[in-house]
Amino acid sequence: MAIIASNFKTNHTRKTTKEFVCNVNEYLKNNEILSEVIVFPTSTSLDNFDTVSNLIIGTQNAYAVHKGSYTGEIGTEQLDEFSIKTILIGHSERRHILGETQEEVAQKFNFYKQLGYKIVYCIGEPLEVKKEGLQNTLEYIYEQFVGIDTNYENLILAYEPVWAIGTGVTATNEDIINIHNAIKEKISKPLLYGGSVKVNNVREICSLDNVDGALIGTASWNQEDFIKIIENTKDI
Ligand code: PGA
Repeated sequence: MAIIASNFKTNHTRKTTKEFVCNVNEYLKNNEILSEVIVFPTSTSLDNFDTVSNLIIGTQNAYAVHKGSYTGEIGTEQLDEFSIKTILIGHSERRHILGETQEEVAQKFNFYKQLGYKIVYCIGEPLEVKKEGLQNTLEYIYEQFVGIDTNYENLILAYEPVWAIGTGVTATNEDIINIHNAIKEKISKPLLYGGSVKVNNVREICSLDNVDGALIGTASWNQEDFIKIIENTKDI
């Protein structure tokens, strides 16, 4: 069954997140959908949602700490309040905009791994690296596994080429196949594709060999579209 994840980034309020989660939950319940659906709201919109077991709420980020003096961050004390046990780590916006280094990413990974969190771990290359060809692209991606236990049982990977994120330019099937095959040869974990996945291309992408689902930003923020995305992949 496909894994379909929505990354809200800095979108939606507490009110609209609640509506979104309730409606997606109703849809999953009423249609007996078996896909695993993960929603990553903003940290201000985390809550105790009453959901079916295949609808999981995760956090987009948290600091590698239970609690303490880390202005602007949240830790597991805040996540435990809502029984959140799923976290997104290594997203390119955190690496490239917020400046998280591989060392920091790995430290966060290890902290949340020790606590048994489901970790959706993102990797992906910027455009200038893609232009250098497949071999260099793979080398760049493998660097993003330094310090990461790729045998961790609760690990889901997401390949998200930076040039495809939020740009409307989806990677070609050939690009996706090349990278996914290479990663899967080394690491036998569920591997999602992310980067301009849309209602009308999600089925084709998720049907490719070695693609186990999708991590979606922009096209997932509208709840009708997100439900269509789940509908379009329900039997994959
Ligand atoms: P996008 O974002 O779907 O808007 O390209 C994907 C992501 O960043 O996870």
